Amino acid sequence: GTTLGGAAAEKGRYFGTATDPHMFSNSAYMTVLNREFNQLTNENGMKWDATEPQRNQFNWARGDQLVAHAQARGMRVRGHALLWHAQQPGWAQNLSGSDLRSAAINHVTQVASHWRGKIYAWDVVNEAFADGGSGGRRDSNLQRTGNDWIEAAFRAADAADPGAKLCYNDYNTDGINAKSTGIYNMVRDFRARGVPIDCVGFQSHLGTSVPGDYQANLQRFADLGVEVQITELDVQQGSNQANIFRTVTRACMAISRCTGITVWGVRDCDSWRTGQNPLLFDCNGNKKPAYDAVLAELNAG
Ligand code: G3I
Repeated sequence: GTTLGGAAAEKGRYFGTATDPHMFSNSAYMTVLNREFNQLTNENGMKWDATEPQRNQFNWARGDQLVAHAQARGMRVRGHALLWHAQQPGWAQNLSGSDLRSAAINHVTQVASHWRGKIYAWDVVNEAFADGGSGGRRDSNLQRTGNDWIEAAFRAADAADPGAKLCYNDYNTDGINAKSTGIYNMVRDFRARGVPIDCVGFQSHLGTSVPGDYQANLQRFADLGVEVQITELDVQQGSNQANIFRTVTRACMAISRCTGITVWGVRDCDSWRTGQNPLLFDCNGNKKPAYDAVLAELNAG
C-alpha cells in the first residue's frame, strides 16, 4: 500500500485520525486526510458537552457532519466518547447520585441510538481508572454514583446499538502497570459475567520512549477475547519519534485482534500537544520520517 489506510486495509485493518468538522473546509488539510486515512474519530464533537449542552436537548450537528463525510468515503467512524469525567456539560457537573446516573444512562441511550448502525466502535467509557499505583477507579462524579456505572453504560450502549463494538478507552496503559492491570481485571470480570464489552482502546499518548512490554500488554488483553485498538496515538518529537511509531505499529500488526490504529490529528500544528510536533505530517502536510516508518511497518506486517 502507498497510503496509511490503504496499507492497513491490505492487512485487514484500518488506519485513522482524529479530526473535527471545522477542518473540512481546509483543502490542504482535507487532501491529506482523504488520501491517507480510512477511519475518523471526532476529536471533540461527539462528547457529552457537545452533544447534550442542555439536559435532554441534543445537538447532533458536528457528529452528523463527520459521519456523513466518513460514509461518503467508506471510512469507519469511532464514536468518542459516551461517558467521561471530563468535558461534561455544566448541568451534568452539577448532578450527583441517582439523578446523575439516570442522566448518564439516558445520554448513552440517546447518543448511541442516534448513530445506530453508523459507528464501527464506541468508546463507551473513557479514562475511568486512576493514575499511579492503586490500580483502582478514578474518583469522579460518575464513579460516586456506584461502582457498577461502567457496566450499566455498556449494557445501555449494547441495547441502543447492538452492532457497534463497545470499547473501554484509557491512557497511561501502554505497558503492564498497575493502571493497565486494574483495567485488565475489569475486562476479565466483564467477559466472565457476560457484560457486553468487545474492545479496549489504548490511547498511546507517548513521550520520548515506549515501554518494552507494549506488545505483551496488548496481547494479554487480546487473550481475553476482546479486540484491541490504538486509539489516540501521538509521540513527542525527539530523536526517537520514528522508532516509537514503528514499535507501536509493529506491535499492533503482530496481534491478530489488534484491528486498527488512530493517530490523534493529521499535522503537527493540528495537535492538542502544542509545540511537541507529535504527529506524522508537518504543519505543511509533508510526510515526516515517522510516516515512512509507520507505512513500512504496515506493509511488512
Ligand atoms: O472550541 C472552543 C472555542 O470556541 C473556545 O473559544 C476555546 C477556549 O477555551 O475552547 C475551544 O474548545 C477547546 C477544544 O479542545 C477545541 O479546541 C476546549 O477548550 C479544549 O478543552 C478542548 O481540548 C480537547 C481535550 O480533549 C479536552 O479534554 C482537545 O482538543 C482534545 O484533543 C482532547 O482529546 C482527549 C481525548 O478526548 C481523550 N484522551 C485524551 C485526549 C487529549 O487530552
